[in-house]
Amino acid sequence: MFVKLFTIVFFSLLSQFPKSYSQIIDFTYNGFRPPLSDISLQGITTVTPNGLLMLTNYTVQKTGHAFYTKPIRFKDFPNGTVSSFSTTFVFAIHSEIPILSGHGMAFVVAPYESLPYGTANQCMGIFNITNNGNDTNHVFAVELDTIRSSEFNDTDDNHAGIDINGLISVKSSWAGYWDETGQFKNLSLISRKPMQVWVDYDDLTHQIDVTMAPFKHDKPKKPLVSTVRDLSSVLLQDMFVGFSSATGSVLSEHYVLGWSFQVKGKAPPLALSRLPKLPKFPRVGPTKIHRFYKNGMPLISLLLIPLLIISMLILLVRFIIRRRRKFEEELEDWETRFGKHRLKYKDLYHATKGFKEKDLLGSGGFGSVYRGVMPKTNKEIAVKRVSNKSRQGLKEFVSEVVSIGRMSHRNLVPLMGYCRRRDELLLVYDYMPNGSLDKYLYNNPEVTLDWKQRVKVIKGVASALFYLHEEWEQVVIHRDVKASNVLLDANHNARLGDFGLARLCSHGSDPQTTRVAGTWGYLSPDHVRTGRATTATDIFAFGVLLLEVACSRRPIQIQNEGGERGLLLDWVFEFWSDGNILDAKDPNLGTECDQREVEMILKLGLLCSHYNPQARPSMRQVLNYLSGDDVLPDLSPLEFRGLGIHHGIGELDMFTCGSSMVDSIVSGGR
Ligand SMILES: Nc1ncnc2c1ncn2[C@@H]1O[C@H](COP(=O)(O)OP(=O)(O)O)[C@@H](O)[C@H]1O
Ligand SMILES: *[C@@H]1O[C@H](CO)[C@@H](O)[C@H](O)[C@H]1NC(C)=O
Ligand SMILES: *[C@@H]1O[C@H](CO)[C@@H](O)[C@H](O)[C@H]1NC(C)=O
Ligand SMILES: *[C@@H]1O[C@H](CO)[C@@H](O)[C@H](O)[C@H]1NC(C)=O
Ligand SMILES: *[C@@H]1O[C@H](CO)[C@@H](O)[C@H](O)[C@H]1NC(C)=O
Ligand SMILES: *[C@@H]1O[C@H](CO)[C@@H](O)[C@H](O)[C@H]1NC(C)=O
Ligand SMILES: *[C@@H]1O[C@H](CO)[C@@H](O)[C@H](O)[C@H]1NC(C)=O
Ligand SMILES: [Mg+2]
Repeated sequence: MFVKLFTIVFFSLLSQFPKSYSQIIDFTYNGFRPPLSDISLQGITTVTPNGLLMLTNYTVQKTGHAFYTKPIRFKDFPNGTVSSFSTTFVFAIHSEIPILSGHGMAFVVAPYESLPYGTANQCMGIFNITNNGNDTNHVFAVELDTIRSSEFNDTDDNHAGIDINGLISVKSSWAGYWDETGQFKNLSLISRKPMQVWVDYDDLTHQIDVTMAPFKHDKPKKPLVSTVRDLSSVLLQDMFVGFSSATGSVLSEHYVLGWSFQVKGKAPPLALSRLPKLPKFPRVGPTKIHRFYKNGMPLISLLLIPLLIISMLILLVRFIIRRRRKFEEELEDWETRFGKHRLKYKDLYHATKGFKEKDLLGSGGFGSVYRGVMPKTNKEIAVKRVSNKSRQGLKEFVSEVVSIGRMSHRNLVPLMGYCRRRDELLLVYDYMPNGSLDKYLYNNPEVTLDWKQRVKVIKGVASALFYLHEEWEQVVIHRDVKASNVLLDANHNARLGDFGLARLCSHGSDPQTTRVAGTWGYLSPDHVRTGRATTATDIFAFGVLLLEVACSRRPIQIQNEGGERGLLLDWVFEFWSDGNILDAKDPNLGTECDQREVEMILKLGLLCSHYNPQARPSMRQVLNYLSGDDVLPDLSPLEFRGLGIHHGIGELDMFTCGSSMVDSIVSGGR
């Protein structure tokens, strides 16, 4: 045990002694800590106090060399063959600008202990323009090139190459390594990270291998660059080994952290954990202070500038985060297949100029509607912001929106698309320049519609509802037929809006407790009672709409001086019972007003909003009545009240729809 320890100590002591000239076959530098022996530093090359070999410092267009001062015997005879040799080193390149660098560095084997004629920049301090490529140079180099110099046929700005007598590489490759699984991993030479390089020459096969790996990574089995070339004609018997580097216009530092070399054998491994540490970056080192002083900048700016930069960065990050937040939206992969229907929140935000109050068209039960202009197409849009609290069934939700988007009828407001965002849903419709029907009916409107226009509107809404109930691939119940959802396009054609919306908004909620969706005054008694919407409940609302259009009165109105509220349909029914139904009509229907048509519309309105769902006609029948293909049954008010009793509804309170139902409907109104 003691003997063994002794021999280890003895031999390690021995290895510290300088070996005699011709015997030199290997050396190892685990850092270049002073006192540094056997290394000559030339040009701007220095050694840092902690032992980094700094080939170049922050100066422009300078060269730096470091050579092992003793010659290495590469050939046993002057005209013999080159022996095997092997070297490994760890290097790092620090550049002032992270994405750009000065020129690279190289491991060199040269006939002299220096490279006095090597020039800076792309020549990397090894050659000059006149001797580049000349066979009398006798230089072998492995370059780590960080700038693409087209005159030297460089393929890129991040490569390792084997150079013989010139800078046009015999072979080169993008920096990186092959890992255990056989995958190529990129390395960035200017990443400021230390990396290890191995260069091996075999005297039998004449194979030259250059291998790279990240710091503290095992030597990859497969070399990065490899070529077969007998170096016997290139190298002389005794040669010098070292490093060469040069800066260009970009300030950069080239470091060697450790280095070992051996002729006729493998280079001794480096003690990686003992290598000196690289300086932190960015750093305010002596070099920087020096530069600032040189430019006449006061020292205080050294402190102010980082502060300024940091605060600017913070502001920038905040700005970016805010912007992100502002335009944040939810988009899942599957949504992309809905293509054009999915719109960008950013576009909608810009289209409506940030959802300004000024562009608010109105607000309803589900949300607010804003006018906007799409940025690219200049198309006018109406954006409806619906709060979307229920987060279940999103897929169904979106596919529903898309199926609504596929509905196309000349009396429906076209749905252009949608956008989802946190707990918000944005529905984008074509903008209807003439607004909604309610604006033409109540509150002493400036513009009213004459009877012809009103009939056109009614027929439009009827055919839209018919489309939803019977023509579309599935039955769609609108659930919110009312005057403010009837929009007028440029030609005063009626276009029904908000179809499908009530259903969308109750998606994911328990069908048993589905709240009654719709607007008071348009809700049919059966709907309120059962909570179930059917096509007949739509028809009820449509009936109310007919009365509204003919009378220009709200579905729930103040009926007497006492402020008591009543239903429009009861009010009209009163007139009918009194035998003068036409007195219910709006007196300002214009001159071209067919009294019989008005009477038909009023009676059809009453029939559609009959308290008994089974007495209400279907939309198909309504269309027939409106076109005159069918004639309304000629009923007396009393017969009308009794309609549908024989169908077995039989609930007595239905007779007194007028009073009892009114109470529940009116008192629940908003
Ligand atoms: N596509 C559209 N084009 C023009 N105006 C619209 C459009 N959609 C809705 N509006 C207007 O926005 C208002 C608010 O609509 P909405 O939120 O659906 O509430 P409600 O229909 O209950 O009144 C409507 O009264 C209508 O005047
Ligand atoms: C770079 O190194 C050289 C040689 O040691 C020295 O003269 C020069 O001042 C250094 N430059 C900087 C910026 O450190
Ligand atoms: C080396 O060269 C000398 C003459 O220059 C020659 O005599 C000798 O045989 C050569 N040796 C070998 C090994 O080629
Ligand atoms: C280039 O180097 C050679 C020696 O290799 C030298 O003779 C020549 O003068 C140098 N040329 C320039 C332009 O430095
Ligand atoms: C190579 O260099 C030598 C010596 O410097 C010179 O005599 C010769 O002309 C050069 N060859 C070429 C091709 O430049
Ligand atoms: C370098 O590239 C030029 C132009 O593509 C070509 O003519 C030349 O042969 C190349 N030289 C080498 C050594 O590949
Ligand atoms: C490696 O770099 C090359 C060249 O820039 C690039 O094409 C490739 O995508 C990179 N590979 C990886 C894994 O980053
Ligand atoms: Mg609406």
